[in-house]
Amino acid sequence: MKPNEVRRVAVLGAGVMGHGIAEVAAIAGCEVALYDVSEPFLKSGLERIRWSLSKFAEKGTVTKGKADEAFARVHGTLSLEEAVKDSDVVIEAAPEDVDLKRELFRKVDALAPTGAVFASNTSTLPIGEVAGGVSSARAKAFVGMHFFNPPPLMPMLELIRGSETDDESFQLAVALGKRFGKEVVECRKDVPGFIVNRILGPLLNEAAWTVGRGEGTVEEVDSMAIYSVGLPMGLFELADYSGIDTIYKAGTAVEARDPGNVLVAPLFRQKFEEKKLGRKSGEGFYKYKEGSWERPVIPREASGRVNPLKVFSPGVNAAAWLLRNGVCTLEDMEKSVKLGLGFPDGILHMADGWGLDRS
Ligand code: 3HC
Repeated sequence: MKPNEVRRVAVLGAGVMGHGIAEVAAIAGCEVALYDVSEPFLKSGLERIRWSLSKFAEKGTVTKGKADEAFARVHGTLSLEEAVKDSDVVIEAAPEDVDLKRELFRKVDALAPTGAVFASNTSTLPIGEVAGGVSSARAKAFVGMHFFNPPPLMPMLELIRGSETDDESFQLAVALGKRFGKEVVECRKDVPGFIVNRILGPLLNEAAWTVGRGEGTVEEVDSMAIYSVGLPMGLFELADYSGIDTIYKAGTAVEARDPGNVLVAPLFRQKFEEKKLGRKSGEGFYKYKEGSWERPVIPREASGRVNPLKVFSPGVNAAAWLLRNGVCTLEDMEKSVKLGLGFPDGILHMADGWGLDRS
């Protein structure tokens, strides 16, 4: 299959990421089957796609006609078989649980056409582990396609090669990513967290340890991140936005595979256990009105109280580790944080500015 022959994409999971990925594929002209196990989740995912497309039409990013056409290309279904049986590419966006993902792919393996490319949008789990659910022939056509929230607005896609991924499938994913209008970066080694979350994880974690140690409040850390460092969102605001369940599970997944790397901060575990999962549950580190894009109020004057270097240096060290271990090029790493997370500059360039002896 050539990349421009990809017509039918199945997206498995209509949650925070899945519905956005489905929208991106539909805008790019693909017929999209959006699958979920739960009718309310599916309905909510479709409503959110409609809302997002209407925002783009309102702002003139696409015409109303094109937005309607894109929406008509998304077909919601509760049947896995119906979703994948004619698919060229299957993109999984299920919760971050390796057994659940493997089991899902095991079923998809039996239902999808021969030659379909399989992709996981896992935020952290090694692609080789997720591909453990499929036959060895399918494992060759298995890639990581890691999107950023919200997929329709974030301009980047991180692509990961599993140990079995063949070149043809990887190149198809690269071309498809570009067709989706994304800049692509390549994660060359299947390390937990890949490029972006390998950097973001320690950073969020250090933010939570900072609060846990009483060295700053949630608002003070977020104010520092926005007004002193130049991030588009505060770190806790971003955790709420991505989903604290996703962030917590991603952190524990890296911790389990690479114990020396992170120690997930108790504050994340506490929020996860209290089911305060962020924007999607109405409360995380901040409170949210349902269905509103309203962002938390983070006072500018609180920005000087937390030292940015203390919070950002674990991220800088993670970036240096990625480079030293040949996980990505310097160019892709700097691009990753700028386009995947909206950083004002590459993280190592920022570290150079702070002084490497200090970061
Ligand atoms: N589709 C269409 N429009 C949307 C939208 C969507 N999905 N979501 C929000 N919007 C709209 C809003 O309603 C608002 O419109 P309005 O002006 O009519 O109210 C507009 O877009 C947002 O405009 P703002 O100027 O208020 O917002 P920003 O300039 O801050 O841009 C942002 C929004 C692009 C999300 C920016 O805040 C940003 O880059 N934040 C960082 C996001 C990030 O880091 N994402 C990655 C997280 S990590 C991840 O996903 C990996 C995973 O594995 C954990």
